[in-house]
Amino acid sequence: MRMNYLIKDIANLVTCKNNSNNPKKGKEQSDIGLIKDGFVFIENDRIIFAGNKTELKYFLTSKNKLEYEVISGKNKTVMPGFIDTHTHLVFAGSRPDEYEMRIKGSTYEEIARAGGGIASTVNAVRNSSKDELVKLSEKRLLNFLKYGTTTLEAKSGYGLDVKNEIKMLEVINKLNEFNRYGLNIIPTFLGAHSIPKEMSKKEYIDLICFEMIPIIAKRKLAKFIDVFCEVNYFDAKETESILKLGAKFGLIPRLHTDQFNSIGGVDTAIKVNAISVDHLEVLKMKDIKKLTGKNIIATLLPGTSYFLNIPYQPARELIENNVPVTLATDFNPGSCMTENLQMIMSLASLKLKMSAEEIINAVTINSACSLFLQNSVGSIENGKLADILIFDFPSYKDLLYHFAVNQLETVFKKGRKIIINQI
Ligand code: NIG
Ligand code: FE
Repeated sequence: MRMNYLIKDIANLVTCKNNSNNPKKGKEQSDIGLIKDGFVFIENDRIIFAGNKTELKYFLTSKNKLEYEVISGKNKTVMPGFIDTHTHLVFAGSRPDEYEMRIKGSTYEEIARAGGGIASTVNAVRNSSKDELVKLSEKRLLNFLKYGTTTLEAKSGYGLDVKNEIKMLEVINKLNEFNRYGLNIIPTFLGAHSIPKEMSKKEYIDLICFEMIPIIAKRKLAKFIDVFCEVNYFDAKETESILKLGAKFGLIPRLHTDQFNSIGGVDTAIKVNAISVDHLEVLKMKDIKKLTGKNIIATLLPGTSYFLNIPYQPARELIENNVPVTLATDFNPGSCMTENLQMIMSLASLKLKMSAEEIINAVTINSACSLFLQNSVGSIENGKLADILIFDFPSYKDLLYHFAVNQLETVFKKGRKIIINQI
């Protein structure tokens, strides 16, 4: 049963309110719409008020028949639910052996060339039923939620044949229709994640273009299409042709690019009107300049840099050149095995030198824009879904300062109250 709630006397109410429909960029990325001593009213699944005490009085006189539970926000910080725009939520198996090999000096690319990496997860996924994949993923969803993620994107890409790519997307759609706490999960088709061992790259690209994309579009199994644009995977031209065809079928392009090598992925992103370029560990200044003024979001994944020991992303240069920035986990078994977006925010602070304000917008309103969900989530504003986090500290800056400890107490997901230590 849905209820109404008034969260009152909130020390820091971080609204992330946006004055346009576009992601925040440049200096705007520092504007978090902070209200000190704030109040939020939740009616059923929606936010119907966010403001200060004076505004609240007016609001309550117009609503005198409403019943509600009062929650104290004294010494607390309230923020919009986090949105993770890049995850590989669905997979089977695990790769701790590879992790250890990397600690001893092997690189991600060497392990992949020796038959590990994505290929090993593909085997595990092909050998798993839909039910098994749903079960494994549901458990991970709880981990996302524990650290404040209320909406996430999830990719296919460990099937690499028609049957198994569709199986992965069906699992993602099924999880979106039902999961214990009602998290929203947005599906992305990443057939072009790697080349399966049983065919040539040319044959596989034909399979993606002439079989997978038409079926997936017809069955509306995905909203986005993604390609891994990288040496030994898909070059810029191949990436372009796959994304263009996907776009023709109504799938919105986003891409993995500039993770290990810079091979023209940014030019491709511009050509196909991608909503986002993701990774960017080795992004060059000339490509940052090209992104200025385009409606493309830079999705930074510092967890991958940390886990693979590769360079961190040039966040400061991107922000200074007016490119909107989001942050995501890239949760996956090979290059970033964590669901914890707060950890990613800590890395963004210490390693990418992003400010607390820039980081908070990066995981809320900008992420909402990246998934075209800015009308329903990403900020605490009237009419939006009540996806809200209550942290046990008085200043939003404490989130980064007091690191590696989960201070999240309560989550509202579509107006439903979830006490984190009871999950
Ligand atoms: O985003 N870079 C390509 N794909 C994933 C890694 C996938 C894997 O290793 O299983 C990534 O880092
Ligand atoms: Fe990824």
